[in-house]
Amino acid sequence: MQPLEVLVYPHPALRRGGQPVTVFDQALRDLAARMLGSMYEEVGCGLAAPQVGIDQKLLVLNPSGDESKPEEELTLVNPKITKKKGREWDEEGCLSFPGVRAEVERHIDITISYQDLTGAAQTLKANGWLARVIQHEMDHLEGVLMVDRLSTADKLRVRPELEKMEQRFARS
Ligand code: NI
Repeated sequence: MQPLEVLVYPHPALRRGGQPVTVFDQALRDLAARMLGSMYEEVGCGLAAPQVGIDQKLLVLNPSGDESKPEEELTLVNPKITKKKGREWDEEGCLSFPGVRAEVERHIDITISYQDLTGAAQTLKANGWLARVIQHEMDHLEGVLMVDRLSTADKLRVRPELEKMEQRFARS
């Protein structure tokens, strides 16, 4: 399977987010499988379709980031948060911001409704790290990036890194 290129900040596709998925076909299943492959290749634990230039509400994740634990893989189509409780700050990274780590505030406990790759409606309760990964990837579906959610101090701290990425993108 051909690997997908993971787009890096400030690629404009990252700001476009995704449209609801309406067709649950083999192409969607292939895309999800290729996204999981790219996620492991880039050593991440989540990847959203807009990060590979596809404007669909589709994301894949494995909270362990461990390819030998496929039972922890999740593919979420059209996810929505239906319940949320508590908030906490913790460190995150993002494949679209290589080398950037920073604390982001997320809900601790969430319930989500979503569709699986067959289009069937599902619900999932998640907390802690899994809930964090889901919220991070769901942000991508709205064109929201982790750098939007940093503390003022961290926004200043990562500014030089972002400027380097902006210069690299302008040259590419
Ligand atoms: Ni990300």
